[in-house]
Amino acid sequence: MTETHMPKDKGLDHTLKLLDEGYRFVTNRSNKFESRVFETRLLGEKTICMVGEKEAELFYDNAKFSRKDASPDRIQKTLFGEGGVQGLDGEEHHHRKEMFMSLMTKEKLQEISSILREEWEQEMKSHSTGEVQLYQAAKYVLTRSALRWTGTPHEEEDIPEWAEQLSYMFEAAGSVGWNHWQARQYRFMAEERIAGLTERIRNGNVEIDKDSPAYQFAMHRDLNGELLDEQTVAVEILNLLRPIVAIAVYIDFLLLAMHDYPEEVKKLESADDMHRFIQEVRRFYPFFPVAPARVKADFTWNGYTFNEGTLTLLDLYGTNHDPDIWNKPEQFQPERFQGWKESPFNFIPQGGGEFDIGHRCAGEWMTMDVLKTTLDFFVNHLSFAFTEQDLSYEMDDFPPITKSGVMVRDIQFK
Ligand code: HEM
Repeated sequence: MTETHMPKDKGLDHTLKLLDEGYRFVTNRSNKFESRVFETRLLGEKTICMVGEKEAELFYDNAKFSRKDASPDRIQKTLFGEGGVQGLDGEEHHHRKEMFMSLMTKEKLQEISSILREEWEQEMKSHSTGEVQLYQAAKYVLTRSALRWTGTPHEEEDIPEWAEQLSYMFEAAGSVGWNHWQARQYRFMAEERIAGLTERIRNGNVEIDKDSPAYQFAMHRDLNGELLDEQTVAVEILNLLRPIVAIAVYIDFLLLAMHDYPEEVKKLESADDMHRFIQEVRRFYPFFPVAPARVKADFTWNGYTFNEGTLTLLDLYGTNHDPDIWNKPEQFQPERFQGWKESPFNFIPQGGGEFDIGHRCAGEWMTMDVLKTTLDFFVNHLSFAFTEQDLSYEMDDFPPITKSGVMVRDIQFK
């Protein structure tokens, strides 16, 4: 194939435009250039952006892209932590990812669903009079569930502190100034606490279930048969705790969808209806904007040259709203998932490709189960009324959360 010039965003740097246009940055340019691949400059660096199914397939080709040094330093220091599975490649990645995926068995997933159900019940009983902000309540419910499921020892009185630390890591991941520093500080404190727990597990100084994820990670051995250093164990246990609490962002949107589309709620009868509803929540609303990688070695694709080391971003939100994949993508239509032919690359709210050898989200099945359990609880086991409130959210916030955090009143158990 002959070489063609990749369309290029004019100007010195487009970071401010990215902050301004948020989730629409890549799609806006892709439409303008009439190309699903284009070049821009972000944070002073040449960056390739891509959107679409074929582009996702390319992006998840391990022979072409690497994750080493792909995430900006400031995101690693808040959201991901350093030395975790996200930045690994090849055999080392596969081996670490296997550890994560071994925790996602049917039994372990059922366990978190039943813990969650108990925690929602407890939490909502404590709010049976007055108003409650469900985003905040969800963070508490998920913090308790995450600590219980991972086997991380904790006291009830420490829940507000755990919830604050874990939420700050994703709520302030994209922020600057004080919030960014606070998120770094909270990550440091949480890592210290879990590194201490790892030491106690290894010395036999704590009572802990040997099947628990915390124990399994503390005793996990790398490809050379060595235990991971305590810091890395802490980063990986936080790679379970933090995203479980982050499901609160989807719960906020799940409740917003219940508010905005009551006719869709009336249709929720079977488990399949619930499944389609939560899939549409994950497709429709913005959460994880892009996945980053670097070109491994020079190659040409569809006439475009990709040079070694170039930062490349795959637009997850844009692909989930791509009119080539989705009919009327800007409409909330759970029934679109009826008979939907899913490929590893056409529905990618939590990344695409393979779970085991690729970087697709290790917690995707858990996220779906948590959302289904939560939807079932709010639809079938609770009655409530939405209060008058501002349910808008911004497309340039990361993560976007409704202004009011979804307030409800008159809560009763059915
Ligand atoms: C809250 C909803 C969630 C969203 C939106 C989300 C999104 C994502 C995305 C976009 C990726 C990166 C995909 C890529 O780089 O190609 C990812 C990776 C990952 N997620 Fe999630 N995730 C969520 C929940 C979870 C949960 C509940 C867990 C664990 C219990 C989890 C654990 C992980 C891990 C360990 C990785 C790294 C995988 C790897 O690098 O191989 N996530 N997630």
